[in-house]
Amino acid sequence: MSLSFQHLTSTKQLTRLDTDTILKVAAEMEGVLENGGSDLLKDKVLAALFYEPSTRTRLSFETAMHRLGGRVVSAVGMQFSSLYKGETIEDTMNVVGRYTDIIVMRHPEQGSADKAASVCPVPFINAGDGPGQHPTQALLDLFTIQKEKGKLDGIHITMVGDLKFGRTVHSVSFLLGLYNDVKFTLVSPKELMMPEKVTSYFKEKGIEFTQTEDLEQGLDADVIYMTRVQEERFEDKSEFERLKLKYVLQAKHIEGKDITVMHPLPRIGEISEDVDPLPNAAYFRQAKNGVPLRMALLAMLLGKA
Ligand code: CP
Repeated sequence: MSLSFQHLTSTKQLTRLDTDTILKVAAEMEGVLENGGSDLLKDKVLAALFYEPSTRTRLSFETAMHRLGGRVVSAVGMQFSSLYKGETIEDTMNVVGRYTDIIVMRHPEQGSADKAASVCPVPFINAGDGPGQHPTQALLDLFTIQKEKGKLDGIHITMVGDLKFGRTVHSVSFLLGLYNDVKFTLVSPKELMMPEKVTSYFKEKGIEFTQTEDLEQGLDADVIYMTRVQEERFEDKSEFERLKLKYVLQAKHIEGKDITVMHPLPRIGEISEDVDPLPNAAYFRQAKNGVPLRMALLAMLLGKA
């Protein structure tokens, strides 16, 4: 199975067929993992360029490559790359794309992924561009919802926290919008509401959504997707301190309910640790799903799936 595009920068470029196909291959990759991996990508080298901090995205991409028999070279931290000396993203792609077979990049600037993809001579994957998009997180989130709930059509999802700067909620919104009868409840302080680029998409597509500041109004859903307030996007740190723990999900909010708790992680207190032992807590399973999902994408973009 192959994809109709060479680069993945945004979930807005994906069709429902693309998404369903990627999720199907990801499910097959779970079988590959159970059998100890494979050598499908044994001649391939991945460049992992992370100019912003990451634990899950970088390590799950690297694990995915290793589990498929490939190799990885990486650059971590802007100060250790020639971007620090003023090299453009385009020049970096033109060079690294001549060393390796596929590039994954995280960068603090919104739009950096489009710049990179516009010149990249090999497949390029956006691993997060500032407050813009994080498409592979959104794909693994849909993979998780499908596994936890057994469906994507008809899902009611509540998104909570920093909906303004949280790139994962932007990417998930565009992707879930491809499915039928989905419904969104958006819980945030007024200062961190979902941006117009997403709400106008909901309106255009006739997708039902409600905006509220009250967490209690979001507890009657299939999935609650908590997010971290993104300190790194605030110029005024006192504003961050004021807003960072406005919403804290506790066990008492969800006990006895059939609501699945997700979070892209890291968390900084917005999910109380008393939620962790509950069957509803899917966030560590969600992180695990990143490996087969990224194995699928690497194999498909390299024409090997
Ligand atoms: N979910 C996610 O993007 O985590 P990292 O920032 O650790 O990669």
